[in-house]
Amino acid sequence: MDFSEAKEEVRKAADIVELIGQYVQLKKRGQNYVGLCPFHSERSASFTVNQNKQIYHCFGCGRGGDVFSFWMEYHNLSFPQSLEDLAERYNITLPQRRDVAAERRKAEIKEQLFRINELACTYFHEVLLKSPKGAPGRDYFSKRRLSQETITSFKLGYAVNRWDGLTKYMSSKDCSLERVAQAGLIIGKKDGTYYDRFRNRIMFPIFDINRHIIGFGGRVLDDTLPKYINTPETPIYHKGACLYGLDSAYQDIREKGLAILVEGYMDVLALRQYGISNVVATLGTALTVDQVRRLKGYTRDLVVLFDPDDAGRLAALKSFPLCLNEGVSARVLVLPEGQDPDSCIHTHSPDAFEKLLEGATPIFDFYLAQALIHMGKGVDGKIKVLNEALPIFTELEQGATRFLYVKQFSEATGIDEAIVWEELKRRKRDQGRRSRPSVATQLSPARDPRKYGTEIQFLNLLVHYPETIDRFRDQEWELIVSDPEIVNIIKPLMEQVQGGGDVERIEELLESEAAKQQLRVTMLAQSFYAEDMVESAVKEFGKKIAKLKISQSIGHAKAAGDIEMLNRLIRAKHDLD
Ligand code: UTP
Ligand code: MN
Repeated sequence: MDFSEAKEEVRKAADIVELIGQYVQLKKRGQNYVGLCPFHSERSASFTVNQNKQIYHCFGCGRGGDVFSFWMEYHNLSFPQSLEDLAERYNITLPQRRDVAAERRKAEIKEQLFRINELACTYFHEVLLKSPKGAPGRDYFSKRRLSQETITSFKLGYAVNRWDGLTKYMSSKDCSLERVAQAGLIIGKKDGTYYDRFRNRIMFPIFDINRHIIGFGGRVLDDTLPKYINTPETPIYHKGACLYGLDSAYQDIREKGLAILVEGYMDVLALRQYGISNVVATLGTALTVDQVRRLKGYTRDLVVLFDPDDAGRLAALKSFPLCLNEGVSARVLVLPEGQDPDSCIHTHSPDAFEKLLEGATPIFDFYLAQALIHMGKGVDGKIKVLNEALPIFTELEQGATRFLYVKQFSEATGIDEAIVWEELKRRKRDQGRRSRPSVATQLSPARDPRKYGTEIQFLNLLVHYPETIDRFRDQEWELIVSDPEIVNIIKPLMEQVQGGGDVERIEELLESEAAKQQLRVTMLAQSFYAEDMVESAVKEFGKKIAKLKISQSIGHAKAAGDIEMLNRLIRAKHDLD
């Protein structure tokens, strides 16, 4: 099997709706599936997937393509790597390739880092469970009331109180210590030797969605600082992008239609232990857009835990536009005085926790209430709140939402709406945003002839009824298509069909991004012509071509002063009409 055959095999084996559906929540709409685009901020779904044609296209940002393009874009990978991933996923053997040495090398390194983390995890876990040296870890976990089952299923561990615990273990496993250092587990000294990064800490491995271990967090057993040490940035660990526990929570999140976001490892573990399974942790960082995008593939409903203090208020304010612009609704859960989910679930029953969940406040309500409590309802306080909240309003996309929030804001603070709008206008004067036609407009059949001129209609006919292509092959169809972009689609389309190829597959023959986009939009749009209109449409286009041809000849005849020819042409034109 050669590469293009393998690619075809993968294409046949993959189902684009199933594949993308794992990352983006898709809903059936008409002949397509739609969801929120994972590649740009949006609140209403313009990301469209079509099962028959096995393509996707976002009407918001214009990105699109086939299963390979999706994989490349979503995971930020090269084509060879994507082909490899998908081939593995669908059990298709690829031939070896020479010209991708660098890619391979990178992939190999990632593989090695995963393997090293896996080994380290096993080591920490075994020490915790079996070694006499693991006693402090075992004591600590029992003090924190974590069950054996939790410890096993989250592969928790203990790093011994030595400088060379893991370093020695890794050497004994023939690992390159340089690579182990690259994984962030050990640190190199000037003299070329290494020492353990994690010492006398309980260890939390962090899994990605494919259950590879990408990093670790390590907690001290007492109150010394820093409380946690984490894996630094590595080729496989990027702090703001990961969500602790997502690998084991995403199905429950999808089923329940709700994700609970907590701050720390211990919170996830404690809640899980009490049967609350749709919970993930942001690991101490503020909620990032990467995290929200990751989550919105599973649900659009988040409950976030924030403390009722300055930090919590500001975190809520920051998360608010982030969620709203992604079309995700976020509510805030405030726990009883001084508690985190971990302590709360131990003192309350899971039922009581669920009750608390129901009482979660919309994020903006929470922010307002906090802001007014902390800054006061006096004039100074209100001005402070206004100054704090205004930049957030400008981050909200235009429309009804902003209106509603400004209204709510002015009602809560007593600051006149007009003043808020005035201030907003002043601030965002230079921040104009482009607006795009809605997806519905782009997907509906032609209504506005200027928007869908002859050439778009012609393209639509050829794409949806490729069997008509032969009828135009010998006609000068270029006469009715003045847009070179569309000529650049139709030419390869004709060749492909003549060669017995698939219309769905011409995208890769196209060179310009604009042509690709236009093709996808045409494929996703409904056919402008019902079956029984096809014949008359073919004739209509034929007539248009003939007329233009005559007009052209009339021009030539005039220029040449050939009266006889001119008369014949004019008669012919009349006949056509
Ligand atoms: P917390 O201080 O709330 O810790 O920080 P915790 O998870 O509740 O842990 P316990 O209950 O005190 O044992 C929340 C999260 O912030 C990150 C960790 O991911 C932690 O789980 N963090 C915290 C750090 O990365 N470094 C730190 O020094 C502190
Ligand atoms: Mn805690």
